[in-house]
Amino acid sequence: MSIEQLAETALAMVAPGKGIIAIDESTATIAKRFEGVGIANNEENRRAYRELLLTTPDLAQHISGAILFDETIRQSTKAGVPFAKYLAGQGIIPGIKVDKGTHALAGFPGELVTEGLDGLRARLEEYYKLGARFAKWRAVINIGEDIPSGTCIEANAHALARYAALCQEQGLVPMVEPEVLMDGDHDIETCYEVTEVTLRALFDALYNQNVTLEGTILKASMVLPGKDSGETAEVEEVAEATLMCLKSSVPAILPGIVFLSGGQSDEAATAHLDAMNRMGPNPWPLSFSYGRAMQSAALKLWSQDLANNVGKAQDTVFARARANGLAAQGKWTRGA
Ligand code: 13P
Repeated sequence: MSIEQLAETALAMVAPGKGIIAIDESTATIAKRFEGVGIANNEENRRAYRELLLTTPDLAQHISGAILFDETIRQSTKAGVPFAKYLAGQGIIPGIKVDKGTHALAGFPGELVTEGLDGLRARLEEYYKLGARFAKWRAVINIGEDIPSGTCIEANAHALARYAALCQEQGLVPMVEPEVLMDGDHDIETCYEVTEVTLRALFDALYNQNVTLEGTILKASMVLPGKDSGETAEVEEVAEATLMCLKSSVPAILPGIVFLSGGQSDEAATAHLDAMNRMGPNPWPLSFSYGRAMQSAALKLWSQDLANNVGKAQDTVFARARANGLAAQGKWTRGA
């Protein structure tokens, strides 16, 4: 795979006014989301829900790519069109989550390392054949008393870089996601420091593993006070802190950065992205790769009437995509 093709895909993922919809919840995670609104977690409901999201009319106006889960990339629309083929036909790039989730990091209580490198080359080869052109691997960094440790950050950065190198070898753009969690009572300064040290370790590891940054996308968490800190940060403060942190740790040659929503409200996720883009010009396009902040309103509506609320739920998906597409250009207005 040529680096030009990887770079072209990466640039298309962050095309102006477009971002990514993350619908790659594992079966265990979607079970929690379904349980929250009283939907039975069976394969047909998961398929129908993913079809609702992916077939939202005009989604491609604001969405460049969709991250799928292993089960989903093997599923089809009711009419029998494989989801990846359907997406490609709409001009939306299919992506795939390839990590195997987080596990306790032995010897480091309270810390996690993401697994999934064993057999990854063969899995990537298959996902490429199934139509995926980018992949995602999520590492999780917890903030708490005396954590994160340097060992946890190094272990996760190393795994992300090994994954990224394998993706590029197999023709997929790696989306590298080191998520610094919002959970905890830490202040915004602590989140800033942990995010900065994590990103620096990640870009060191990518360099050491010969990963080409022109064919890589960063999925970043925003710099926020902990959920239980009792602190609320103004939109501008979050935007400034996040931008400064990224500028100090992410090479300018990267084609783009997309954010996760991480449990922020739909509106906060949009407002923060919009504020960062208004503060531009920035070294990279800044866009979104939201899961919950794209889906939660739709899931709630659908749960009220699975047979009849598909259209209404799709309207909310489109509205979220449009709002975030505007925020990716710094053109969003509250209430729009
Ligand atoms: P949230 O936007 O719900 O945090 O999910 C994005 C994602 O893909 C996390 O890996």
